[in-house]
Amino acid sequence: MPSRHSKLAWSDVTPKHVWMTRRQILAAAGAAALVSPRDGRAGEGTGASLEPNTLEEISSYNNFYEFGTDKSDPARYAAALTTDPWAIEIGGLVERPGTYDLADILKGKAIEERIYRFRCVEAWSMVVPWNGFELRALLEQVGVRPSARYVAFQTLFRPEEMPGQRLPILDWPYVEGLRLDEAMHPLTLLATGIYGETIPNQNGAPIRLVVPWKYGFKSIKSIVRITLTEAEPPCTWNRQNPREYGFYSNVNPAVDHPRWSQATERRIGGGLFAPRIPTLPFNGYAEEVASLYAGMDLTKFY
Ligand code: MTE
Repeated sequence: MPSRHSKLAWSDVTPKHVWMTRRQILAAAGAAALVSPRDGRAGEGTGASLEPNTLEEISSYNNFYEFGTDKSDPARYAAALTTDPWAIEIGGLVERPGTYDLADILKGKAIEERIYRFRCVEAWSMVVPWNGFELRALLEQVGVRPSARYVAFQTLFRPEEMPGQRLPILDWPYVEGLRLDEAMHPLTLLATGIYGETIPNQNGAPIRLVVPWKYGFKSIKSIVRITLTEAEPPCTWNRQNPREYGFYSNVNPAVDHPRWSQATERRIGGGLFAPRIPTLPFNGYAEEVASLYAGMDLTKFY
């Protein structure tokens, strides 16, 4: 089943049928709120709007240190990244380990649109209309062994195309991890598009994680390896600065970053003088995910 030589081009498998205009997306979000808890409208009524940011905003203000540390570096340099062909090595505690061509992974997956809040640890936020599929669909496909408790992710290491990787900014390659129940949660996506188009390189093409109730750095980009493990896997920012970044990194307005408050956020696109809005527990997804952490002291497991 794993094959490295699929005939399908990336553009052939990018779903166009989900393309919607901005107005249609807003209309759909309104309609979906009546029937679905998964469209990111949890916590509505708190004043935090779910109007998606523009593609321009979403793709021009990015963190992707493989291309540099400035917010404009990814948009400037990421075009050089080759995203086709692309394969993901899936291994560790799975029944069917292998190197899976992305085209094969996408076959038979229902690509959905999910409008999610996105909250960066630096206290800015956006609303992004992602296209993707639930990570759990892929994990179920490869078969998770009973002893697996965590999922580890790794980004591509290709310094020829990623200029930031030629410098010791981070301990390359970028790695992240989730507890298995977090990874299996229906809100957790593997995203391949934004606004119905192939995901821009600077946003993590061709496939990136999206975990909407956690700070943005958990949403690892341009994934080439997924490993099921028994032990908690390393995470780049936790390794870099364990006092500031824990394994869980759930959005929590009550737990400050050691150097700044996390109680409010500034929505990108609102202008410099837009009022800061209150940050919601679990980024507005408490109803869906708070039970995953029942009984845990979230000031300790931050
Ligand atoms: N993934 C990789 N491989 N490298 C990175 O530097 N930055 C993270 C996360 N994923 C990062 C990454 C951080 S800090 C954030 S806030 C989000 O990506 C930004 O995602 P966006 O650019 O799509 O908004």
